[in-house]
Amino acid sequence: MNAIQFSRLIWELYGARGRLPDLDWIEKQGLLAIKIGQMHALRIDFLDRERCMHLCRLYRRNKILDSGRFERLVLDALAPDSRDAFDSIESIPLASASIGQVHRAALLDGSPVVIKLVKRNVTVNFAREVQKLRRLLKVVTRLYPALKRAGDPVGILDDLETFTMSELDLRHELQGQQVLKEIQRAQGKRFDLTSLRFPRVYSELSNASVMVSEYVEGETVDELLESNRLEYDQLLDLFRLHGFFLFCVGTFHGDLHPGNVILRNNQWTMVDTGFVGKVSERLRLGLFYFFKALSQYDYPACARALHQMSDVQIKHNDYAEFERRLLDLYADFTDRTVSEISLTRQMMSTIKLGVHHGMHFERGIFSVIRSLMYMDGMVLRCQPNAVLMKDMRPFIQEALGVLPDGKSWSDLERQRR
Ligand SMILES: Nc1ncnc2c1ncn2[C@@H]1O[C@H](COP(=O)(O)OP(=O)(O)O)[C@@H](O)[C@H]1O
Ligand SMILES: [Mg+2]
Repeated sequence: MNAIQFSRLIWELYGARGRLPDLDWIEKQGLLAIKIGQMHALRIDFLDRERCMHLCRLYRRNKILDSGRFERLVLDALAPDSRDAFDSIESIPLASASIGQVHRAALLDGSPVVIKLVKRNVTVNFAREVQKLRRLLKVVTRLYPALKRAGDPVGILDDLETFTMSELDLRHELQGQQVLKEIQRAQGKRFDLTSLRFPRVYSELSNASVMVSEYVEGETVDELLESNRLEYDQLLDLFRLHGFFLFCVGTFHGDLHPGNVILRNNQWTMVDTGFVGKVSERLRLGLFYFFKALSQYDYPACARALHQMSDVQIKHNDYAEFERRLLDLYADFTDRTVSEISLTRQMMSTIKLGVHHGMHFERGIFSVIRSLMYMDGMVLRCQPNAVLMKDMRPFIQEALGVLPDGKSWSDLERQRR
């Protein structure tokens, strides 16, 4: 993407008032533009709802490989002795995304499986495009430093790159689920994670561009939300599980959108584990205590927790001003439903406020924000009149019981006083 194409992309996403972004044009610009568009589909904090819904189509409108071609590419990518492993491959895909395509299949012994294929070798091209755009953004942010403070576009691009490069190699999916499973195993009975599982991966039939895994019966959260069949309590249970990884461990499924979780008989199966998010202890605890304070509507404590999350300490006077502005931002927050105040928008404004007053947050914060946006989006679809912060109180109490870091948090707090 050159400077002109990038300007046009920005104009399509933000500028073209009165008309929605031209998705055909975005798709023609390649994977990076599609990924930037998809990322904006979640930004209900600064794009209007209709625009976001429109951009969401970028997740679905993907070129589908016909089944003959899919099968040929799968067989080409497999080792010769694995090519006879399948009894049948269904011709209609289960899903086709910008990178992968997934089909149901059966092994010779009848086991139902899914085959996921990376559609094309786009890795080299994508890396080159990111490099070009990074150079451009560095020039732009040097000319307009305010841009860096407001949104850190280079940081966002770095996050997008790590995330997409990880998706382009399917071996990361198995590694990702192994990391999460190990955390689950090590947790034992301290925090009940028994309702969570991951599909078995047939590693002998898998490599960087093909992955064969057990077919999981059930429906994705996306399908359940679409047809209004997901109970709010079930959603809270999913948040409890994901919240454990996010806040109690700091290592979590990095792309937990509603298409990546399958529910059956109150069992959650997480798929698409190609990107595992990781945050430092400072950030993880800061976030946890931020949400703890928020669930109690204790805004001065929210301000302190946000400051704790920052890599840099701000001056006393700046802090006083920051706290005052934060109290303003939350003046109407208490007992508001998720549809009255968007948690995503509130969170983004809070972080921007911190950055504006000199705070700086590590890059891992973007994958947490992505997770929070997905959760916010799911509640909006499931129970728009929920007061989520209040409903998270039992989880926060439960997590406090297993958080081994009460002490390190008070140490961190003391350093900042
Ligand atoms: N093991 C599985 N069992 C059943 N359905 C699956 C399985 N893996 C993926 N799917 C279905 O295929 C879709 C796409 O798979 P996913 O691994 O998320 O690929 P992508 O990277 O393209 O999003 C999922 O949303 C889900 O509906
Ligand atoms: Mg997926």
